[in-house]
Amino acid sequence: MKLDPSSQEFRSAGHRLVDWIADYLDNIDSRRVLSNVQPGEIAQQFASGPSANGKSYDELFAEFESKILPGITHWNHPSFFAYFSITGSQAGILGEMLSAALNTNGMLWKTSPAVTELETVALRWLRDSLGLPSNLFGIINDTASINSFLALAAGREAMGLNVRREGLADLPQFRIYCSEHAHSSIDKAALALGFGARGIVKIPSDDAFRMRPDALEKAVAADRAEGMLPCAVVATVGTTSTASVDPVRAIAHIAEREHMWLHVDASYAGSATIDPSFRWLWDGIEGADSIVVNPHKWLFTQVDCSVLYTRKPEVLRETFSLVPEYLKTTDTAEVNYMDYGLQLGRRFRALKLWLVLEHYGIERLRTVIRDHVEFAKRLAAELENRDDIELLAPQSMSVVVFRKKGSEEENAALLERLNASGKIFVSHTKLRDRYGIRVAIGNGATEWRHVQQILHLI
Ligand SMILES: Cc1ncc(COP(=O)(O)O)c(C=O)c1O
Repeated sequence: MKLDPSSQEFRSAGHRLVDWIADYLDNIDSRRVLSNVQPGEIAQQFASGPSANGKSYDELFAEFESKILPGITHWNHPSFFAYFSITGSQAGILGEMLSAALNTNGMLWKTSPAVTELETVALRWLRDSLGLPSNLFGIINDTASINSFLALAAGREAMGLNVRREGLADLPQFRIYCSEHAHSSIDKAALALGFGARGIVKIPSDDAFRMRPDALEKAVAADRAEGMLPCAVVATVGTTSTASVDPVRAIAHIAEREHMWLHVDASYAGSATIDPSFRWLWDGIEGADSIVVNPHKWLFTQVDCSVLYTRKPEVLRETFSLVPEYLKTTDTAEVNYMDYGLQLGRRFRALKLWLVLEHYGIERLRTVIRDHVEFAKRLAAELENRDDIELLAPQSMSVVVFRKKGSEEENAALLERLNASGKIFVSHTKLRDRYGIRVAIGNGATEWRHVQQILHLI
C-alpha cells in the first residue's frame, strides 16, 4: 500500500500552508508574544491516541489553529526581547521546506554529495564574511551546547594522554576554565566529558563582566601546583547576561603558554562581525583552537543551526571518527562530516544558511544587525535618562540590562507585568546578586517602535 496515494492533497494543503505562513508573518504584530495558557491546557485537548483511519489536512489545520497555536510563544514576534531571540527569516523557512522535502542524510559525502559540499561552501562564505581566519574548518551541528561539547572533547584529546583509548580512570583531575558569566552549556559539556563539577573553574570577571586574565593565570598555576591537569579555557564573546566580551588575546597567550585548548563561545555575538565595525570582537581570535557561532541566534537562520569552526580539524577527527564496515567508502571525498562529531545522521542545514546569505546578501544582513545595536544604544540612553531606572551593565551589542530602583520583588513584579501585557517578552538575569530585566534585540522584523514599547510599558 502506498502511504501517499498521490500528491494532490499535499499540493493543495501545501499552497494553503504557505499562504497561512505569509499571513502569520504579516500579522504577527497583532498576536500576544508570550502564550498565556496554563500548564497542561494544551495536552488535555488531545485524545488518548492518534486516529485509526487518519484525518484530512483541512481538519488537522483547524486543530493546529484552535488547539496548538494558543500555546505558542511567538519567537518570530518583533517584540520578542527575551533570552537570545532565535531569529528566523522567510528565506530560512524556504530552506527548511526544501530540506524537509529532500529529507537527506549527510553523514557521508556519498550519501548526498551536495549536502556535504554546500555545507563546506556555506561555512567558507560565512567564515570569510565574519572576517575569521582562513585556516578554519567548519561543521554545522544543532546547537552551541553540542558544539562546545565537541570542542572540549577535542581539547581533552589534544592533551596527548590518549583518553580515547585509556579513559580517564588513572589520570589526575582535568580542569576547564571559563568566566563566571560563561553559559551553562560549558558546565554541561565538562560534566558529560567526565571532568566533574569540581573540574570546572569559574574565573572572576572585571567591572564590565569580562574574564580577568590575571585571575585565570593564578587559577592555572594553583591547579598545576596541586597536580591537576589544566585542559581548556573557554572565552565568551557575547555573554548570555550582558553580551560582555572576554579579552580573547590575553586569554589566548595564557592558553598557548599553558598548552590548553582555547574554545571561544561567540554563539550570540559572532554574527555581529558580519559588519566590519564589530570585528574588534575577534581581537586575538587567531589563537583560538575552536569557535562556535550560531546563525540561529542572530543571523536570521531557523533553529537549529550552530557552526563550529576549528583550526585543528584533525584533532576533532581523531576524537570522533569511527567508521563501521557498512559505512566504509572508496571515493576520494575530502570530508565525511560524520567523522567530526558524535551524531551519524545529519540534516541538510546548510541549505537554509546558504539561502539566507545569498537571498539577503551581506549588506542587508549588516544593516539589520547594525540597526539592532543602534536600537539597544537608544534604549539604554533613554533608560539612563530616567531617575527611577539604572543600568546594571554597560550596554553591549544588542543587549540592555536595567533595574528599577527598588527591591528585587518590585523588579520581578515589573517583569511579570511587562510580559503579562502580551505586547513584549523580556527576561531577567542576576548580576552580582542584583536582579535585572534584560532586553536582547535580534528579530529581523524589529523596528524602533517595537523597542519603544518597553519604555511606554514601564
Ligand atoms: C553565550 C551562549 N552560549 C551558548 C548558548 C547555548 O546555545 P544553544 O541553545 O545553541 O545550545 C547560549 C544560549 O543562549 C548562550 O547565550
